[in-house]
Amino acid sequence: MDRSRLIVTIDGPGASGKSSTARGVARALGIPYVSSGMLYRAAALAVIQEGADPGDEEAVMRAVSRHRIRLVPGVEGDRVFLDGEEVTERLHTAEVDRVVSPIARHPRLRAWVNRTLKELEPPFVVDGRDMGSAVFPEAPYKFFLWADPRVRAERRARQRGEEVARVEAELSARDERDQAQTRPAPDAIFLDTSAMTLGEVVDRVLAEIRRRDP
Ligand code: DC
Repeated sequence: MDRSRLIVTIDGPGASGKSSTARGVARALGIPYVSSGMLYRAAALAVIQEGADPGDEEAVMRAVSRHRIRLVPGVEGDRVFLDGEEVTERLHTAEVDRVVSPIARHPRLRAWVNRTLKELEPPFVVDGRDMGSAVFPEAPYKFFLWADPRVRAERRARQRGEEVARVEAELSARDERDQAQTRPAPDAIFLDTSAMTLGEVVDRVLAEIRRRDP
């Protein structure tokens, strides 16, 4: 495969394992890993800082335009800068989680994220909700990961040291809010990861890539 056209898209709901999988696949292929959710999360941080109403598209776009948001892809994942300051570690808080899905519904914000992603030079692995369907329909390798909600809640609770029942309630509320944006590409390979370890999922994705492009 011509590496200058190599794009692997990994979509799926929250805590389906897509970011860990994308990171593992990127590392194995030696190419950068880009998380589209991090751009939505950076926009959410801008909205929080500006005290803007997440439901008001105009106010959201105004808040985003007041800040310089930069995504720097790397093999270990992308780093995000807001006005020159690295905010990568501040994007996975419960507060950002609450603001991010209502703002991700706004078409103008989605257009801004998609434009920013399309400016990136391949090769890369990118994860999100609609990377294979809306942003990179031409990508040669597309995957959609799914996992049982309880399994996803257990994974996320372990990751964050939180209580499973609460995480499950929050995840299902976010699933509902994200539903309209979560679109598998018709030609994506669907993987139910409920009973798979992370290593198995990464190996499966790599095997599919190698099978089609030995
Ligand atoms: O993948 P994540 O959990 O970091 O994504 C954060 C939020 O951004 C999620 O609630 C939905 C939204 N999102 C989206 O709407 N489309 C994407 N391609 C990626 C994320």
